[in-house]
Amino acid sequence: MPKANLITGLDIGTSEIKALVAKQNSKGNLETLCLVRKPVVRGMRRGVVIEPAEISRILEEISQEIEEKTAERVDSLYVSIGGSHIFCVPSQGTVAVSRADKRISEDDIERVIEAAQTFSLPSNKKILNTFPRNFIVDGEKIKEPLDLEGVRLEVEALIVCGFSPYYKNLTKAVLDAGFSILDIIPSPIAAAASCLTPRQKELGVLLLDIGAGTTNLAVYEEGGLLHLAILPMGSANITNDIAIGLKTDIDTAEKIKKNFGTCILSKEERREKIKIQTPEPISFNRNFLTRIIEARVSEIFTEVNKELKKIGKQEKLPAGVVITGGGAKLPKIVQLAKKRMKLPCKIGRPKIPSNLEKDPTLSVVCGLVLEGAKEGGEEISFGKEVLSKIKKFFKMFIP
Ligand SMILES: Nc1ncnc2c1ncn2[C@@H]1O[C@H](COP(=O)(O)OP(=O)(O)OP(=O)(O)O)[C@@H](O)[C@H]1O
Ligand SMILES: [Mg+2]
Repeated sequence: MPKANLITGLDIGTSEIKALVAKQNSKGNLETLCLVRKPVVRGMRRGVVIEPAEISRILEEISQEIEEKTAERVDSLYVSIGGSHIFCVPSQGTVAVSRADKRISEDDIERVIEAAQTFSLPSNKKILNTFPRNFIVDGEKIKEPLDLEGVRLEVEALIVCGFSPYYKNLTKAVLDAGFSILDIIPSPIAAAASCLTPRQKELGVLLLDIGAGTTNLAVYEEGGLLHLAILPMGSANITNDIAIGLKTDIDTAEKIKKNFGTCILSKEERREKIKIQTPEPISFNRNFLTRIIEARVSEIFTEVNKELKKIGKQEKLPAGVVITGGGAKLPKIVQLAKKRMKLPCKIGRPKIPSNLEKDPTLSVVCGLVLEGAKEGGEEISFGKEVLSKIKKFFKMFIP
């Protein structure tokens, strides 16, 4: 099998690293070759690589395991970047159409996007990705301007930026493990790629990936990215709250969360008392546990509402909220989300590759593979072509 058909995604999460190797067949369909998951005990903090050497060590183990399972050596991969240092800036650019016949060329589009990227940024921040939302040709909003006639070309874009030292830590960890990087994609974009449909993106939708240390947000409208943010809180905060509330250790608190945790209880369940035999026996009221969980999950939703308010979209997204990530496994989270965000809500599971379990913790890694498949795919539509070009512009980490 030629190596070009292999597409590998690498999601370095706060609690777990996931690597997915997929094969793209001649019809463009993706099939899972191997999935490797490794827990992270140290080296990460809230979605950020803080100890590159430790993460690199785990990545070397992953590399070996992939080789053992598939008899293939994976050299290059698509990597996600997370952490609350990532932010977005709406920007615009304007250029004069350069050709004598006034037809807009690829070169004009590249120039207008470069113009949108020209704004002042502190020296320790860097542009990670550029997402064009609309092109404007002589005052008319247009999605695909190539070959249209015009004099003045403008673009409205969302520029995603991050803190350079954290970006360097991530690339160092990956490169030191012997991989080369094909692209670095912000986690919320990757999760959206595997969980959202074009129709949801057109109508207006919020993708919410509740991980261990962070909560990723991506808002789409009219098919384009409207807002992106990463909050520094996630499901691990719930575990910490349980450990404090029930005066128990973190591992026991994690087990209690997964086995007895819920966001809402029925009347009968409220009276339940739970006794468990951990190294030390512990007993608690189910109602008390649920109140701890509900308080923290509600706090996350309050912060999400604040982000939506910033862009005037609080309670105003017709396709609602799609919740994914490990936090989405908490029972009754959809009901609580509806109550707090006053929007339709559902759980998002990665649909592709089709032969993979539909586990919400795999949304980011599946999205990375999908984005990778698009870049390497044959039939690239115009908008995507531009995007992949911009991405290639930043591909400077291939040793
Ligand atoms: N059944 C469950 N109920 C509640 N929480 C769960 C459940 N299963 C897993 N989780 C939580 O999901 C989190 C892991 O999810 P995920 O793999 O999406 O996070 P991550 O990618 O490692 O972190 P991040 O995205 O913040 O960097 C853990 O905090 C775990 O406790
Ligand atoms: Mg994650």
